Amino acid sequence: MPLKFEPVTDGFTAVASGIDLRNPIDADIAAEIEAAMDEFAVLVWRGQPLDDDQHMAFTKWFGPLDMGLLNVTKKPNRFKHEGFIDIANVGADGEIMARDAGSITSSIANQFWHTDSSFMKTVAKYSLLSARVIPETGGDTEFADMRAAYDALPDDLRTIVADLIGEHHALYSRTLLGNRYTEDQVAGMPPAQWPLVRTHPVTGRKHLFTPIHVSRIVGVSVPEARMLVNELIEHATQPQFVYRHKWQPDDLVMWDNRCTLHRGRRFDLTARRELRRTTTMEV
Ligand code: OGA
Ligand code: MN
Repeated sequence: MPLKFEPVTDGFTAVASGIDLRNPIDADIAAEIEAAMDEFAVLVWRGQPLDDDQHMAFTKWFGPLDMGLLNVTKKPNRFKHEGFIDIANVGADGEIMARDAGSITSSIANQFWHTDSSFMKTVAKYSLLSARVIPETGGDTEFADMRAAYDALPDDLRTIVADLIGEHHALYSRTLLGNRYTEDQVAGMPPAQWPLVRTHPVTGRKHLFTPIHVSRIVGVSVPEARMLVNELIEHATQPQFVYRHKWQPDDLVMWDNRCTLHRGRRFDLTARRELRRTTTMEV
């Protein structure tokens, strides 16, 4: 069956079907998927019950693995491969975490509008998130199209952001949630700098790059910088730029971190929610 991509909205997010992702793909299929990613930025695959090997094999077509903070936090991984990011309210022992456990902060921080690994000095390309256990209510994931958001910027804002450089820090969103870190901990994760407006390397389209991880903007006072990021996120996440994904078990959603933002939505933290993610790097 040939690959099929059905757009959800004009130019943003498509439902992909036609192949069983448990089977190996080839370079032609990978290129077709990549072309669809360049067009739609988010692809939704339903009914793809991947095991860890299959998920990893599919991922590797789209670039080397981005380890994000895995090499820094050295958290034990319940999976077969290093490089899986545990998107779950479940500890290494498989039990649901206490809702006030320190480690649940990262899962709550995912509810801010962000993009994966923007605080790394490498460029995160795709994330691939596979759903295993989904609570009955809540826990949707939303995606925002930062290309369309850039195109729709009011002229004054477009001029303001044109040459600004954001500084992204891995711990900033967690400090917004009340976590406190020592100077050593902060220094152990050096920030990365990226322009607020970037150009997609394949399509040449400009897009905003303003995830919650931007804690400072070079040459701008901290309060003004933070309010500007807030304004840009507000602009970019208006309903016309957003796709909201309602998860079913065995969904695989992949997105281009360069030109989208995403966030998880609230769910009952005492209900099991388990997904697993891989992320690749641009080379
Ligand atoms: C992620 C993420 C949000 C969610 O997997 O990178 O931010 O809804 N997930 O779990
Ligand atoms: Mn994320």
